[in-house]
Amino acid sequence: MLKGARVVFSQLLLCGFLCEGSKDPDCRQYKTCTECILGSPECSWCEDRDYHYLDQPRRRCDLHSNHQQNKCRKISNPGSGSTVHSNNEPDGDRDVKVSPQNVTLRLRPGISTAITINVHTPRNFPVDLYYLTDVSRSIKKESIKSLGHLLADEISNLTSRFRLGLGAFVDKPTAPYMDTDPVMVAAPDPNNGNSTPTFGYHNVLPLNKNTSYFQDAIEKLMASGNVDNPEGGLEALVQVAACEKEIGWQSKEDARRVVVLTTDAAYHSAGDGLLGGVVIPNDGLCHLDGEEYSASLLMDYPSPGLVRDVLLESQVVPIFAVASKEKQVYEQLANFLGNETYAETGELLEDSSNIVRVIGEAYKKIARTVTIRDTNSARLTLRYTAVCPKGEIYEDTRTCTGVELGDTVSFKISVSMANCTDDLPSNFSIKTPYGQVFLKLSYVCSCDCEAEEILEPNSTICSHRGSLKCGMCSCEDGWAGEYCSCTEEEERKNCQSNNGDVCSGQGSCSCGKCYCEDTKDPKGLIYGETCECNNLNCPKDPENEEICGGSERGDCDCGQCKCKENWSGPSCSCSKDLDGCTKNGVLCGGRGTCKCGTCVCNASLPYRGPFCDECLSCIGNCEANRPCVQCRMFGTGELVGEDCKTKCKDFRITAVDELTSDMGKKCRFRDEDDCYFGFAYTVRADGQLEIYTQRNKDCPSEMKALLVILGVIGAVLAVALALLLIWRVLATVQDRRAFAKFEKEQQKAKCVMAENPIFKPTTTTFMNPMYGVKT
Ligand SMILES: *[C@@H]1O[C@H](CO)[C@@H](O)[C@H](O)[C@H]1NC(C)=O
Ligand SMILES: *[C@@H]1O[C@H](CO)[C@@H](O)[C@H](O)[C@H]1NC(C)=O
Ligand SMILES: *[C@@H]1O[C@H](CO)[C@@H](O)[C@H](O)[C@H]1NC(C)=O
Ligand SMILES: *[C@@H]1O[C@H](CO)[C@@H](O)[C@H](O)[C@H]1NC(C)=O
Ligand SMILES: *[C@@H]1O[C@H](CO)[C@@H](O)[C@H](O)[C@H]1NC(C)=O
Ligand SMILES: *[C@@H]1O[C@H](CO)[C@@H](O)[C@H](O)[C@H]1NC(C)=O
Ligand SMILES: *[C@@H]1O[C@H](CO)[C@@H](O)[C@H](O)[C@H]1NC(C)=O
Ligand SMILES: *[C@@H]1O[C@H](CO)[C@@H](O)[C@H](O)[C@H]1NC(C)=O
Ligand SMILES: *[C@@H]1O[C@H](CO)[C@@H](O)[C@H](O)[C@H]1NC(C)=O
Repeated sequence: MLKGARVVFSQLLLCGFLCEGSKDPDCRQYKTCTECILGSPECSWCEDRDYHYLDQPRRRCDLHSNHQQNKCRKISNPGSGSTVHSNNEPDGDRDVKVSPQNVTLRLRPGISTAITINVHTPRNFPVDLYYLTDVSRSIKKESIKSLGHLLADEISNLTSRFRLGLGAFVDKPTAPYMDTDPVMVAAPDPNNGNSTPTFGYHNVLPLNKNTSYFQDAIEKLMASGNVDNPEGGLEALVQVAACEKEIGWQSKEDARRVVVLTTDAAYHSAGDGLLGGVVIPNDGLCHLDGEEYSASLLMDYPSPGLVRDVLLESQVVPIFAVASKEKQVYEQLANFLGNETYAETGELLEDSSNIVRVIGEAYKKIARTVTIRDTNSARLTLRYTAVCPKGEIYEDTRTCTGVELGDTVSFKISVSMANCTDDLPSNFSIKTPYGQVFLKLSYVCSCDCEAEEILEPNSTICSHRGSLKCGMCSCEDGWAGEYCSCTEEEERKNCQSNNGDVCSGQGSCSCGKCYCEDTKDPKGLIYGETCECNNLNCPKDPENEEICGGSERGDCDCGQCKCKENWSGPSCSCSKDLDGCTKNGVLCGGRGTCKCGTCVCNASLPYRGPFCDECLSCIGNCEANRPCVQCRMFGTGELVGEDCKTKCKDFRITAVDELTSDMGKKCRFRDEDDCYFGFAYTVRADGQLEIYTQRNKDCPSEMKALLVILGVIGAVLAVALALLLIWRVLATVQDRRAFAKFEKEQQKAKCVMAENPIFKPTTTTFMNPMYGVKT
């Protein structure tokens, strides 16, 4: 009974210290190294073969700081990181425009790693510009006159390495997009006998340096026609982007690829093909047969999503130069395509005369923007921070605008993953307009120490009954214990503990050894042969409320503080440092001892104060001795009661009838009762103070006092009477005057008493006829 109560009590006591909530992850639930490091980014594993602290086996999966405290020598705590393989800095306008080019990332779940990518915007970067025009109406010759040269001039400030290509589109050559009347089929534009039959898309001129070719080709373009308003611009765009060889695009790193789509009509998109019986979804691949789009009647129009994918894949930037009535439609499309495609929209005038300026402005905007994107990063979390020129930093942004040619911008990318799964990508890339960064990924999804070749089968440490894995024995069937040293049967037996309890009620027994429980407090520790000790039940320092004054003053060991250098006392709250007791190099004025950093003055000497150097009662100081004389002799003054006993206990006071000059310096004070008392003091040879006090106080005689009091009372009364008399006289004179004035006015006014004729009395009188009649 008693024993049980004691255990409960000790647990309650412990809980008071140990069960405070803690936000640290619960690492101890993880039983193997891999579980441990995957369980929480903060958990780590101790691989020591013999991992004990204070003779107790410690838990192997724990916070790194706890492992350090427990003096683990080999902690397995892999992190995330990155290795840069090739890091040629961007070198002006020559080949390297993006750095690094090749990075290996190692990721542990929940721990992110960051890389920084620098992108140099080159001057005079080549441009491939493909002009894709809608020929469903006749072309205004003025608008395309010397268009090639004008375009080259317009963007010559940005680049001189310039190639032009030309394409034309109308719509699917079938009903309902065109008129199937044979006459109309041959020449679909009724106003133009020369118009060419409707076609899907023609690659008229692959990209070429000689702008003369472009000029020739565009002037030879013939108008065509169709019926419905939306045109097949998107499917032409997909072909331009997808047909790398046919269009003649240079490689992505070597040139910016731009396609200018001019039209005055909206576009058909996926699903519209059903009307014409074209049902196969667009595959986004190249279907050029010579210059002709061969899948026009085979495949549906592409969806904007497919257009986006194809544009991103081929890094072709679209500029929509469209008539003002369709501007909104294409702005929405450009928005949908997003920053990563760099899509731009410009508004054409009625006569398309501003085409060169529209393209020039859009291209300048594109050339001054750097956007990066990543591929194949599903299951990873990427956060981008853009460091744009002029040092502006944008969180969660992948775009820098207003970048001058020749500037370098950087992007900080933090990569993390949440969980080890089978479908994690093995690589991905970061794409920039001027090249890409290849990132190879490896994952920390298991502990290195669990690798087959490191295992120690039939290990000596595990009593030849198990293998050693990450410092821990995994025992063969039938064996158990830390070192596989007992059978499972033995293991289950309770070990006998000194006091009869099993491991003091704070642990479990295995192979005859106590394994103490963990405390909730990460700093708490239960230990001892029978878990009888813990490091939290020591006295707290009364000042800072910390156990043993905190870790820098002392450690708690099984209920007792082990104080560190310069500290002592049960809670290590007592400083052995003498600094607090020393003034001018003298310890406590030589009249006391230093205890816990403060002076304790010798009680038999009159010196007090923090350094025992203040003597209030020494020669020449009557006032210092007054309170004690007063309270000790007469029970008056400020030191009555307990104060008198403690503060005046060193005073030796002798009462005498008469003070004589050999009694020392004389002092005289007036007491609370107006009587005077006198004392004399002297300091004896041994420094002790000797005080002589007059036994009786000098009081003024009583008769004298009475006369004075009566005199004062009489004088006060006389003055009061005189004042009363004066007031009375003044008041009477005033009253008389006021009465006389009243009488005078009374005579002047002659009032007549009369009744108001319209007045009706407010009361009515009724007579009860039965009143007073006797029945
Ligand atoms: C990346 O660098 C590593 C080491 O230099 C090399 O083995 C690998 O081929 C490189 N990969 C690419 C795509 O450049
Ligand atoms: C090119 O730049 C120069 C000066 O920077 C400027 O004067 C000229 O107008 C620009 N030309 C074009 C076509 O923008
Ligand atoms: C461009 O082509 C025209 C005619 O097609 C030709 O006369 C001229 O020499 C060419 N220019 C260059 C630089 O090749
Ligand atoms: C697109 O670019 C604009 C600036 O040009 C920027 O404000 C916007 O946040 C960007 N959008 C995305 C999704 O990055
Ligand atoms: C990781 O995966 C496991 C099992 O697939 C799941 O229980 C756990 O919740 C996942 N953790 C996170 C952070 O997604
Ligand atoms: C990159 O990953 C993809 C699929 O995730 C894979 O097909 C490709 O072979 C990988 N490339 C390299 C160089 O590892
Ligand atoms: C383990 O090693 C001991 C001593 O080296 C040997 O006697 C025993 O047969 C071994 N057991 C196994 C299962 O290999
Ligand atoms: C202990 O006190 C001595 C003397 O004051 C001083 O020299 C020493 O540095 C102190 N030790 C510690 C650990 O503070
Ligand atoms: C206090 O002072 C007296 C007189 O100088 C001396 O005898 C005594 O030992 C002192 N006491 C202590 C505790 O230092």
